Amino acid sequence: MSPFYPPEQIDLISSYNDIVEIISQYLPLKRSGRNYKALCPFHSEKTPSFMVSPEKQIYHCFGCGAGGNVFSFIMRKENMTFPEAVRFLARRANIELPEFDSRIASKKEQLLKLHELAAGFFHWGLTDSKSGESARRYIEKREITGPTIEKFKLGYAQPAWDSFLKHARKKGYKPETLLEAGLILKRSRGDGYYDRFRNRLIVPVCDGRGRIIAFGGRVLDDSQPKYINSPDTPLFRKGNTLFGLHRSRDAIMASGTAILGEGYFDVIRAHQEKVENMICSQGTAFTEIQAQVLRRYTGKVVVAYDSDRAGMEAALRGLTVFLRKNFEVRIVTLPPGEDPDSFIRGAGAEAFKKLVIGSMPLLDFKLNQLCRVNDIATDQGKLAVVREMLDTISIIESAVLRETYEKKLAERLGVSPGAVREEYGKIKRPVNPPRTAQPSTPRKVNKYEVRLLKYLMENDTVLSFVQDELDPEAFSPPLQPIVTLMLELFRQGKTPLSRTLVTVLQDKKSQELVSRWLMEPQSPAPQISEVADLLINIQKKRLRAKINECRKSVGRRGIAGKEAAAFLGKSIELTRELKELPARIRMKIRL
Ligand code: CTP
Ligand code: MN
Repeated sequence: MSPFYPPEQIDLISSYNDIVEIISQYLPLKRSGRNYKALCPFHSEKTPSFMVSPEKQIYHCFGCGAGGNVFSFIMRKENMTFPEAVRFLARRANIELPEFDSRIASKKEQLLKLHELAAGFFHWGLTDSKSGESARRYIEKREITGPTIEKFKLGYAQPAWDSFLKHARKKGYKPETLLEAGLILKRSRGDGYYDRFRNRLIVPVCDGRGRIIAFGGRVLDDSQPKYINSPDTPLFRKGNTLFGLHRSRDAIMASGTAILGEGYFDVIRAHQEKVENMICSQGTAFTEIQAQVLRRYTGKVVVAYDSDRAGMEAALRGLTVFLRKNFEVRIVTLPPGEDPDSFIRGAGAEAFKKLVIGSMPLLDFKLNQLCRVNDIATDQGKLAVVREMLDTISIIESAVLRETYEKKLAERLGVSPGAVREEYGKIKRPVNPPRTAQPSTPRKVNKYEVRLLKYLMENDTVLSFVQDELDPEAFSPPLQPIVTLMLELFRQGKTPLSRTLVTVLQDKKSQELVSRWLMEPQSPAPQISEVADLLINIQKKRLRAKINECRKSVGRRGIAGKEAAAFLGKSIELTRELKELPARIRMKIRL
């Protein structure tokens, strides 16, 4: 959801910008029943499959899947961001936004100032405060130098429960603001608040312009959790931020490569030792957005993860987001037990640079790994390797590169390229559909789930009965943000839900999904009993998965008796819930 413009404002603007009128200024629309039709402006086609609904104020192309409302149309046609499109259409309708704009701007401004204040307080905590002694010793032991402390504005959060809270209140900040910034938490019992960061080394996280928007806090010993980070706030989203980017940008462009580490200290160490093109994603898999941001500066990434990191395979899979964006991806192999921080510290920057130069293309690396874990002397082993590899190869857009890798794969396994290609034909390749006239295949969603959501979106009475039964996580991943948002809007009393939803959904894919549903009549609309069944089935699936997880955990090796008993208890509880589920849901819906 846009943090900047509340839905009412957006609604007002869209009500003054009729979608038919707007789109007509870009292409000729022809009436067709209740809708308008045209050749799609977003892909080339000979017969019109682009539909505009004056009633619902949305458009949808049944050819390429493009769809949305007047804002998304302008965004795409004029290449604007959402706020830009909002301002563009507001201006067109003579709606004034200034007061509103400045309120938002000042809110962000206020949060940025607060982060600046916090960073200063923490920094003082590390450099000058009395209780900062242990942190100073820690930092010294890690061989982090004074200039690095200054450069990264590292800090230390006082051990007391409310040191920062008091400090910020003295400066005039209200608890609500501190809460919104994620710097304090509400006490679970009674009222009052306490500092989120206590007795931790503090690493400020900056946005692309170098403004502090969040913090990471590390313990000074081996206790858990090792890190506490700022939550998502109006300033910060973990999945959108690349730690260190504003400091590394120049070096990335100059060297043509970005080195991806795993954690704050990999980046900090690298910079200290003048390896200045390193960034990290703060421990989570890289997101599409992060890859896209990075793409502005380079098309090459070298990945330097801990070599013995749990689930290296999962880590490799997480890198496909870079392949999809046409990055050249290489992998550094660090000695066992080392991460870039410890390696550079021990062996020096030059040795690290050598490893980077000697890094291996992702696909070679993966092939090596697979050949190690599978016995490629057997047919089964070969097949397993081929399938895994093709999964990755199919993501590559360049046909030439794909062929090179298919050949390499065949050679390595001692089979003919023809055999590999044949296997290749069997796997689905939804990733890079040709841009023209592909009948749309949107992301994988379960059609029963869609049927239920479509119904609930237009029947908010039923939704009000079952809202507590809707667990976003029970839905296919592409639907989850839609369910979450639907519930949120509903709880805010926004109707009609379906239209508000298209307006507020920021993710293009989700917006396209919803606009498609709205265009297609529900045929035939489900009976109320079917609605109950749909909901029951979806919830059952989720419960069964949970139960399975518990059962597996019970049997896992090395699990303690107490823990096993807890899992067992949990699974019994869930099984009871499963049994009672149908009756409960039917009763709610009949109400
Ligand atoms: N991380 C996190 N929360 C945790 C553990 C890790 O947010 N509980 C993130 C941090 O951004 C961290 C990164 O994941 O920097 C990598 O984790 P890890 O390798 O465990 O930490 P290091 O950066 O190596 O930290 P250190 O060297 O201080 O142990
Ligand atoms: Mn480390």
